[in-house]
Amino acid sequence: MREKLGFLVCVWFVLYGSCVARFVVEKNSLKVTSPDSLKGVYECAIGNFGVPQYGGTMVGTVMYPKSNQKACKSFDDVDISFKSKPGGLPIFLLADRGDCYFTLKAWNAQNAGVAAILVADDRIEPLITMDTPEEDDARADYLQNITIPSALIGKAFGDDIKKALSRGDMVNINLDWRESLPHPDERVEYEFWTNSNDECGPKCDSQIDFVKNFKGAAQILEQKGYTQFTPHYITWYCPEAFKLSKQCKSQCINYGRYCAPDPEQDFSRGYDGKDVVVQNLRQACSFKVANESGKPWLWWDYVTDFAIRCPMKDKKYTKECADQVIQSLGIDLKAIDKCIGDTEADVDNPVLKAEQEAQIGKGSRGDVTILPTLVINNRQYRGKLDRGAVLKAICSGFQETTEPAICLTEGIETNECLENNGGCWQDKSVNITACRDTFRGRVCECPTVQGVKFFGDGYTHCEASGALRCEINNGGCWRKTQDGKTYSACIDDNTKGCKCPPGFKGDGVTSCEDIDECKEKSACKCPECKCKNTWGSYDCSCNGNLLYMREHDTCISKEASTEVSWSFIWVIILGLAATGLGGYAVYKYRIRRYMDSEIRAIMAQYMPLDSQGEVPSHVPHGGV
Ligand SMILES: *[C@@H]1O[C@H](CO)[C@@H](O)[C@H](O)[C@H]1NC(C)=O
Ligand SMILES: *[C@@H]1O[C@H](CO)[C@@H](O)[C@H](O)[C@H]1NC(C)=O
Ligand SMILES: *[C@@H]1O[C@H](CO)[C@@H](O)[C@H](O)[C@H]1NC(C)=O
Repeated sequence: MREKLGFLVCVWFVLYGSCVARFVVEKNSLKVTSPDSLKGVYECAIGNFGVPQYGGTMVGTVMYPKSNQKACKSFDDVDISFKSKPGGLPIFLLADRGDCYFTLKAWNAQNAGVAAILVADDRIEPLITMDTPEEDDARADYLQNITIPSALIGKAFGDDIKKALSRGDMVNINLDWRESLPHPDERVEYEFWTNSNDECGPKCDSQIDFVKNFKGAAQILEQKGYTQFTPHYITWYCPEAFKLSKQCKSQCINYGRYCAPDPEQDFSRGYDGKDVVVQNLRQACSFKVANESGKPWLWWDYVTDFAIRCPMKDKKYTKECADQVIQSLGIDLKAIDKCIGDTEADVDNPVLKAEQEAQIGKGSRGDVTILPTLVINNRQYRGKLDRGAVLKAICSGFQETTEPAICLTEGIETNECLENNGGCWQDKSVNITACRDTFRGRVCECPTVQGVKFFGDGYTHCEASGALRCEINNGGCWRKTQDGKTYSACIDDNTKGCKCPPGFKGDGVTSCEDIDECKEKSACKCPECKCKNTWGSYDCSCNGNLLYMREHDTCISKEASTEVSWSFIWVIILGLAATGLGGYAVYKYRIRRYMDSEIRAIMAQYMPLDSQGEVPSHVPHGGV
């Protein structure tokens, strides 16, 4: 009897605890940025609670407390606050493993104000996953309130950090979850390993709470084709030798092929493991049938409604109750019954057979041994089973820029921009900031405002560029109105930067100073000139009758200028007259020449003339 029980207890542990199985620890990268002696990338294992910043990064500086080094006590007693000071880096608390649950360490650390907790292992071993306590802990209500990310680091690395800190070095670390999940394409595949059992304590409660809270997001993602979700159910098989035992008969269906632990861990009362297997199978079948009808998201409705309408504690964990839920959702009941088949028969059930095969890890995914387990893009999710945290993880599974709108909504934003503007550039005068709150964490990116694109590093500077850039805050350039005149250091073309207008000098951003042209003798230099500086320009006048010519920066006599111009006009008039006269003279001369030759030609016909040479040239005329 003890051995038989031993097997079933082991089943229980494999399902809910830490039996030996191929278990893959999900790691994120931890990069030390200072001191130089520690610089490099280290491995750390994401804890199975808290909110890992999937898709994001977090920078902080490490502190190791002088007392309470295992963080098992509240830090209120030791009167230390780890809240980062304004402008300071967030604090990562380094705590030692041991003496209490990982979750309690994280909870104490969070209450002291740290941004993340690093737990240093106390023995040399491969990294493990820090999990939540198994038992039904009365204080477990804080579990769901843990929001800081946590990571386990190796003992040697922990010792190195402590050494560096004791030397007085500042240890800065960048936690990077961007590659924690593969994000190859525009669709995320995810699986949820769950259980219809609603009486297994906090673990079961957290599963159903998650399904209820995540339902809305899951259904939108599924309906729009962003995700492909598959629910899974773990079952166990009864070893051949125990097949006909009372225990296997009460825990298993199909002759010991598919088993589940007894909900109350008491074989003599309440529901049996067998009832759980059948309800699990019904849920798996409801997904299969709903999926075949093109509405896989109905699974979320079925599971939620079933938990509400058919709880074990009301003795409604039955086929009749389940069938009512199925019918109310319009799922094909006959198809589901067919999928379940005869659970008493000595035959395989294709659905549960496939589930048992899927339990075995493949590739980067380990065996599924812990319930609940969420697998996203074939990578095991670590962290708390909470809508925001899971959505963040799913969102980080999309290829960048292809994530759906739901990923960019407030619910999963980090609000890091609210504090210290996230350390990003901002122009308070016009309320423009480079801080953008996304599920990937805050990013410092120069914005585009009213069609004007800003360029820069996003941290220390952003500068408007393009045609309309002077429209916004005058392109960040200096501008001033005085005495009814306005000057600006912004030029509205495609250039960048600011340049003080002529008459001013300065950086063009914070100031442009009027140039005192008189003092600097840069204008009005003529000896007879009188100089008076004005804002942005100068007035220059000449003594006596002289006139100031600005473009030549010289004085000229008023009369001289009159004479010059009149004489010039006279020259033109005379010139025109001369040309006219000249032309007339030539004309006259040519007429005379012509007349002469004509008369001569005529006369030559009547009398011999002394000069005959010209005549032949006029013969044609004469011939007419
Ligand atoms: C956890 O959060 C809930 C809701 O915010 C609150 O009611 C509860 O008291 C918190 N539990 C602890 C231990 O702080
Ligand atoms: C659900 O349906 C889709 C499309 O018809 C299919 O590709 C997928 O394999 C189905 N999932 C399961 C678990 O049957
Ligand atoms: C700046 O803009 C944000 C959002 O556009 C707004 O919530 C905030 O109140 C503004 N602040 C000021 C000082 O105008």
